[in-house]
Amino acid sequence: MLFSRGSLLVLLHLFVVINCRKNPKINIVTGYDAIESAKTLTSHAKIKDLFAKAVEPESKEELKTVSYSKDKEGYKGDSFLTSESSGHCSILNGGTRESYSMQKEARTAMKAYEDLTKADDYSANNRYMVPQEKCRSATNPYKCDPSETWRSIDGTCNNLYNPWWGAAPQPYQRFAKPAYDDGLNAPRCKGVDGSHLPNPRKIAMYVHSPYQTKSDWSHLFVWFGQFVLHDVGKTASIVNSYGDQKWCKCGEKWSSDPDCFNIPIPYEDYWNKDQKCFAFTRSSPAVRYDDCYLGPREQLNLVTSWVDLSQVYGNDLKTSRKLRTYEKGLLKVSYNKYSRREHLPKRENVADCMGLKTLSKCYQAGDGRHEDNGYLNSLHTIFVREHNRVARQLYYWNPTWDDETTFQEARRVVIAEYQNIVYAEFLPLLVGQDVARQFDLLPSYQGYFMGYDWKINPNTQNEFTFAGRYGHTLCKNWQLRADKDYETYSNKTIDYYIFNPKLPEYGGGIDSLVRAALADFAYYPTSQVNDKLNNWLAEDVFYKETGNKRFSLPALNIQRGRDHGVAAYVVYRDLCGLGRAYSFEDLKNIPRDVVSQLRKVYKSVEDIDLWTGLTSEYPLEGAAVGATGACILAKGFRDWKYGDRWWFENGQDPAIAFTPPQLDEIKSTSLARLICDNVDTDYVQNLALLWPDEKYNPWMDCKKIAGINFAAWQEVKYNKPY
Ligand code: HEM
Repeated sequence: MLFSRGSLLVLLHLFVVINCRKNPKINIVTGYDAIESAKTLTSHAKIKDLFAKAVEPESKEELKTVSYSKDKEGYKGDSFLTSESSGHCSILNGGTRESYSMQKEARTAMKAYEDLTKADDYSANNRYMVPQEKCRSATNPYKCDPSETWRSIDGTCNNLYNPWWGAAPQPYQRFAKPAYDDGLNAPRCKGVDGSHLPNPRKIAMYVHSPYQTKSDWSHLFVWFGQFVLHDVGKTASIVNSYGDQKWCKCGEKWSSDPDCFNIPIPYEDYWNKDQKCFAFTRSSPAVRYDDCYLGPREQLNLVTSWVDLSQVYGNDLKTSRKLRTYEKGLLKVSYNKYSRREHLPKRENVADCMGLKTLSKCYQAGDGRHEDNGYLNSLHTIFVREHNRVARQLYYWNPTWDDETTFQEARRVVIAEYQNIVYAEFLPLLVGQDVARQFDLLPSYQGYFMGYDWKINPNTQNEFTFAGRYGHTLCKNWQLRADKDYETYSNKTIDYYIFNPKLPEYGGGIDSLVRAALADFAYYPTSQVNDKLNNWLAEDVFYKETGNKRFSLPALNIQRGRDHGVAAYVVYRDLCGLGRAYSFEDLKNIPRDVVSQLRKVYKSVEDIDLWTGLTSEYPLEGAAVGATGACILAKGFRDWKYGDRWWFENGQDPAIAFTPPQLDEIKSTSLARLICDNVDTDYVQNLALLWPDEKYNPWMDCKKIAGINFAAWQEVKYNKPY
């Protein structure tokens, strides 16, 4: 018997119901930007003048860069840097030439706005416009073809009325009003009583100290989450005109640099007695040119907001071109001795290889962060293998198709499979079945989705990128490889598996990493972050650039929230319908022992940082996050379903819809099938994101797991669903 999607979802439901208590009802938040956008925009006679006068404030120090991209050849190209070429870890997301020019514009606009706030007739109740010629929506360069079946690479033209919505790069949106200390630009450093907020590293030590318990999820749930989160958000750093990351260091001259926001080492931190600070570069500023609004500092998303596998296919045409063979629709690959299967292609330019000195272990993907860890790299590899598998199948059924048609149709099918897996398998485990239903995230068993709404702006919410860091708490300190019988080996701490480019070519290759992630469990969600990520992050990796021997991931998350002017946790708790907390006693949705740790560091409940508050909450039943985290995450994923014209189930437009038989085939797929098709294994648990369980989640022979029959695509070039 073949196991279909129907039986898969019944099993998932059974599993969740067994673990289920009643969850609180949460709000679908409208979002600060949507409310603000409804207000009338006012122009001010002074603005044009201020813009003309405002000059980008000079940084005191010339940008010190580790010039990965400073290959002489590289400088010649007009847009040499692409969104994938800088940043193999979010500490150095870097940016692009385009993000640099947006950064420059933002500095000018912020300076103009600051001056405007000093004008006599300025009113905080008004929203002021940037000059027309600086406004993207007023100078819309896009010409969209409404009948285009294939999704654009950079996310443009998905929304025909606002073609740049969801595209890369774009400023983030917000759930809540920014909470900068000066209302405009200065990081949130002051608590409600005006005193300094607690040191982020101190919070990391008290509230996020390692404490590990087993969960029901496989460790693949953690890595798949990271893979999905990288699809929708990548925050630009402050960069120079070549898109190279600005590096801050400890010391007087850097602490007075407005681009740096270093974290001092607190007295009680015995791990870090040998360093003065964690060097911290602020994220690039951006302004919301989208609706010509002149206001507080925003941050910039370098990747498309859509759930569109941009981490595999690239976020810009230049990257996409580097990845394609231009033959029979295939993506470029490389091979090694550990598997007869395909691997990510090697980069062609050593200058793109980050800190690596050699091309031999330097891989190219749609998003440079695949190098963060071996498991993430494996997921990138699986999707490249799947693309080529699908392309070969489609070409088999349609030998007259040219390269472009085969590539785009294969891409369309793989994105559809991925959207189906994310929404049917991943999200119910992330936010829980209740919230997934409330937000209408689950794909239907059969048929089209008719709810596409062009009025939805899908730009990723700034706060989403913090809720998305839930995964830092689930990640195990010890990681493994596994052989074809799922016998695990190579038990090493996580630091061995991160920033280690030799992993795909060593000790069993990527297939051994995927099998281990399936066979191992993730931590149960608590506020803890494992020892290696909390106390030893990136040991010696960025010493040359920052002078730092190590970092602390929770401290970086907290400081990043303050850098972005993200409001305090209680604000979101309230927006999401849990009620405002006025005292620590009101935090009934946080375990007592965690509340007592929070009390030790924060003076007021209203000071708690967003990421700390979110990860402190009890998870909802059957979910990996608490109510406030689920509220923020589910809203994002709802927008990416309802606001995506190319959503795989969208049946509103016959020109871009799959045919009913094709849609049925896509809905029959599962992550287990994807693994069977693309990893060296003969069997896998039915629900790959849950730990194997004899009764509820048994190991399945790959031959018994349903997959796509590509005959449904035969000779179908332009689909006619009705
Ligand atoms: C080996 C494990 C991991 C490492 C070493 C790691 C490291 C990092 C670092 C250094 C940052 C940037 C911190 C800053 O703001 O300066 C970051 C951001 C982030 N991480 Fe992780 N992470 C890991 C796993 C995960 C997982 C499992 C998830 C989700 C399930 C995740 C989601 C995110 C998200 C959403 C961001 C924000 C991205 C952005 O705004 O650009 N990470 N991570």
